[in-house]
Amino acid sequence: MAGKAGKVTDEEKQRIALDRVLKKYSKQKGALIPVLQEAQEGLGYLSEETLGYIARNTGRTLAQVYGVVTFYTQFRLEPIGRHLVRICHGTACHVGGAEDIDAAVCGHLDLDQEGGTTPDMEFTVEKVVCVGACSLAPIILVDNVAHGRLDSEKARKVIREYQKRKQGARGS
Ligand code: FES
Repeated sequence: MAGKAGKVTDEEKQRIALDRVLKKYSKQKGALIPVLQEAQEGLGYLSEETLGYIARNTGRTLAQVYGVVTFYTQFRLEPIGRHLVRICHGTACHVGGAEDIDAAVCGHLDLDQEGGTTPDMEFTVEKVVCVGACSLAPIILVDNVAHGRLDSEKARKVIREYQKRKQGARGS
C-alpha cells in the first residue's frame, strides 16, 4: 500500500523487500538463517519489528527468532551507520598488520578499537574474518568495496575519501 501522497515510503519499501525474502524461502523448511541474513543485508540491521514480522511469517515465536539472532554474532540488532567498514582480521590480514589498520581507522573516527558506530551515524566499523581476498591483505571493505594492501596512512586516506564525499554532497 502506498503512503499518504501516493508515494511509497521507506518503511513500505522495506516491507516489500522483506516480503520478497520471505517468499523466496517460503518453501524451504528451516530456512530461518538465510531469511535473517538477507533481511539484514537489505535493511542494515534487524529491528524488533523486523524480527516480529519474520517470526509471524515463518511460524515461529519471537523468542525462537531472538534465540537465533543472539546466538550468531553475524546478526546486528542496532542500526548501522551510512558506511559499513569491515576490517579483515583473518590470518593473512592479521600477519599483514590488521591491528594497525584497525587502530588507524578507529582512531581516525574516534571509536574505540572494538569498532561501533560514530555518533553522527556516518560510519560503523566492525571486525570480520577472512573476506576471501588474501592476496590484497591487509584489506578493508567499505560498503562492500575492497581496499587492499593498506598501511595505517592509506587506511585513514580511504576513510577521509568517504568523509569528503559527504562534504561534497552537502556543498552541491
Ligand atoms: S585474511 Fe583478510 S582477506 Fe583473507
